[in-house]
Amino acid sequence: MIQHILTWPDPELKKKSAPVVVINDKIRQLVMDMTETMYDAPGIGLAAPQLGALQRVVIIDVSGKEEPPELIVAINPIIIHAEGESYEEEGCLSVIKYAANVRRHASVVVKALNLDGEEQTHRAEGLLAVAFQHEIDHLDGILFVDHLSPLKREIFKRKQRRMTEAS
Ligand code: NI
Repeated sequence: MIQHILTWPDPELKKKSAPVVVINDKIRQLVMDMTETMYDAPGIGLAAPQLGALQRVVIIDVSGKEEPPELIVAINPIIIHAEGESYEEEGCLSVIKYAANVRRHASVVVKALNLDGEEQTHRAEGLLAVAFQHEIDHLDGILFVDHLSPLKREIFKRKQRRMTEAS
């Protein structure tokens, strides 16, 4: 089922998510809800805490409209290697009408479990590498706007405040 996505400054988004201990029906349902919600939004990634579920689960699909969907489900993901630098524009389904460039690693190697509980190694670069770093940040209560310089963060906050006052 499509779920409501929490948005900044919801305090739930700042919480740390717990590792998944067993991949049971509850986790499978969570992944299904996340998938429906992400494609509906639409977005290229979603982390469980964005739906208020404080579990270390992320999904990513950077294949775009033209390609067949390529959904990655990463449970308890850990970045085991990172290198290079990238500075690309990011947005987030939890941050309305705002995008900014964020410093990230250009490539990462991520270890995670899939829905069958099998350990997988994802070697990612470009957009996929950024997506992994962005989504794994969510599991630690970090949003992309937390990476901005103090000045840019202040501008972001003022913009959001103006938007909420206007609506
Ligand atoms: Ni996000």
